[in-house]
Amino acid sequence: MQTMKFRRFFAGVLLLLFTLAAGAQAPDTLRILSIGNSFSVDAVEQNLYEIAADAGAVYIIGNMYIGGCSLERHAYNAESGAAAYSYRKVGADGVRTVRDHTALPYALADEKWDVISFQQSSPLSGNPYSYEPWLTRLIACVKARVPSASRYLFHQTWAYAKDALNPNFPNYGCDQAVMYASIMEASRWAAESHALEIVPCGTAIQNYRATWYRDNATRDGYHLNLVGRYTAAATWYCVLSGKDVRGNAYRPEHLTEGQVKAAQAAAAAAAESPYEVTDFGMRTNDVNYEEALIPAYRLPEMLRCADGTKVQGKARWEEKRRAELYALFEREMFGRAPAAPPSLHTELLESATGVLGGLADRRQVRIHFAKNRYMDLLIYTPAGAEKPVPAFLGINFYGNHSITDDEGVLMTEQDALQRRYGVYPGLDRNKGESRAARGAQASRWPLELILSAGYGVVTFYRGDVDPDFDDGFRNGVHGVYYREGQHYPKPDEWGAIAAWAWGLSRALDYLEKDPSVDASRVAVLGHSRLGKTALWAGASDARFALVISNDSGCCGAALSRRGIGETVEIINRSFPHWFCANFKKYGGNEDKMPFDQHELLALVAPRPLYIASASADQWADPKGEFLAAVEASKVWQLYGYRGLKGVKMPEAGGAVSAGRIAYHLREGKHDITAFDWQHYIDFADNFLK
Ligand code: GCU
Repeated sequence: MQTMKFRRFFAGVLLLLFTLAAGAQAPDTLRILSIGNSFSVDAVEQNLYEIAADAGAVYIIGNMYIGGCSLERHAYNAESGAAAYSYRKVGADGVRTVRDHTALPYALADEKWDVISFQQSSPLSGNPYSYEPWLTRLIACVKARVPSASRYLFHQTWAYAKDALNPNFPNYGCDQAVMYASIMEASRWAAESHALEIVPCGTAIQNYRATWYRDNATRDGYHLNLVGRYTAAATWYCVLSGKDVRGNAYRPEHLTEGQVKAAQAAAAAAAESPYEVTDFGMRTNDVNYEEALIPAYRLPEMLRCADGTKVQGKARWEEKRRAELYALFEREMFGRAPAAPPSLHTELLESATGVLGGLADRRQVRIHFAKNRYMDLLIYTPAGAEKPVPAFLGINFYGNHSITDDEGVLMTEQDALQRRYGVYPGLDRNKGESRAARGAQASRWPLELILSAGYGVVTFYRGDVDPDFDDGFRNGVHGVYYREGQHYPKPDEWGAIAAWAWGLSRALDYLEKDPSVDASRVAVLGHSRLGKTALWAGASDARFALVISNDSGCCGAALSRRGIGETVEIINRSFPHWFCANFKKYGGNEDKMPFDQHELLALVAPRPLYIASASADQWADPKGEFLAAVEASKVWQLYGYRGLKGVKMPEAGGAVSAGRIAYHLREGKHDITAFDWQHYIDFADNFLK
């Protein structure tokens, strides 16, 4: 506080000296007196002086303050001369002073004010019947005493935050939109009927709220926070100077460049259109790809238990904190899946040796969940392997037959649902094709590379467990586990991703019995939405010996609070079936999430984890994925492993590995390629061989 004061003081003195030394005239000085309440404290007492100073002007700012003061009370005070105000002033040198027990006539005579402003108290601000005759009487008193003033303003105040607990909010049905509309009507009427210039702070704040920073302009639901105050001051500056505040170089402490940009745009747009919200870009639905526009965020503390105690060793992590975090992700994001069934009926559909040009043996196994509900596993192992082999287990997008040209792979049957959505690559409806072409996704499964490295490959089709669209959870495995009378998962029960992850565990159940694969050496992997799935499977089932997430992005490995590329809100809107109903409340509300994705990664510790991104896949926020891996490393460190702490993000094409955590940034688009697989194989060789 002290240093701020000094800084302001010096800025003021420097400005004066500079102008005098330059032999120029004294800078433009404008004297502004606001007759207000705590809302004028928010708007004019900070930032306004500094914004003007940056533009080469000196503002002397007075604020006659009484908490919650209405026009009625101001009018009485003006007429009676009651010494009821705290007179607060920012001098020409930027220094703040406060004089309590001050009467309005005193303040009116204190400076040769150029500008005087009036405002209504917030509970009444949207009620036009509360303005008169008080505004008329107040203006008359002021005008009689201040002949110098040439400009009179009406300070339009703002609506409360949507979730404000203000006792006056019921005046507006506790509805921000209603309050905003009421303030617009009343303030327009007040300004127009008294020929006052409007200072449209209410609209500026509403403009800011319409950006991806949302309803985050107040500190308690009605008083402005740092960015709200800056927005209001910027609005005052636009009106007072007639200039555009965009590009002003003054920066209040603690605001990000993105917030400043949004606040300046919100103010400038309000000055143009004082009574309606303007779309100037940065809308909640717009996607941000600029690092500089990321909101300031703080990650939740991974190594502090809910009871406040610190996690200092792996014992505490294992006994307490890990379980706490797992329970949060389960309840608030993925949803609780049923326990492993005691047994599932499995059926060997087919097997062959020496397939894929002699490279592999193949088995196809059906796992039955219920009558007519099953998933088909495709298993390749290196031909003639004498011992059970380590393997990569991953779900495929479009059916087992889509991962290879191998004619022996059974065409996935349960794809009728997915077909409706026409998402199969290479599908030609005109030719009557109804499913993905055989081998359509072969580039994502470089079988030769994997098998010749000594690994098996196990896969199944996502739609076998749950079709990937919002079907009200009617067509997938969910229905098998509904209790009597249940038709929909509860808010904390499994969405599609948790169901797919559950399917991965069921595949592992089977592999524990299969002679060709060593179930204790299975790496679970997935690309994109199936990479999110692999992470949750790895977190949920410690039998997975290694976990690989390829381009998993938002709600996978990328930190949600960065709000860059795909966001929680967008994902919930586009894929409402992926996460449980509890997760919906975090759209645009990432700060309220009791976790972030680094903590999901940490749930895999101390097992090895590989995170990969692609340079052109900004939608998935490669940097956010890397940062999450770095943060998560703290848990591997509890186990004495190095982790990625202090490691620099690699350039496109590069990889970094710190023992049990590795990361690479492939050059190119959203995909999983032989480049990715080669890295996974090399990494797995350290642990599964
Ligand atoms: C969409 C979605 C991503 C997802 C991806 C995929 O792009 O927005 O979250 O990862 O699909 O699964 O390919």
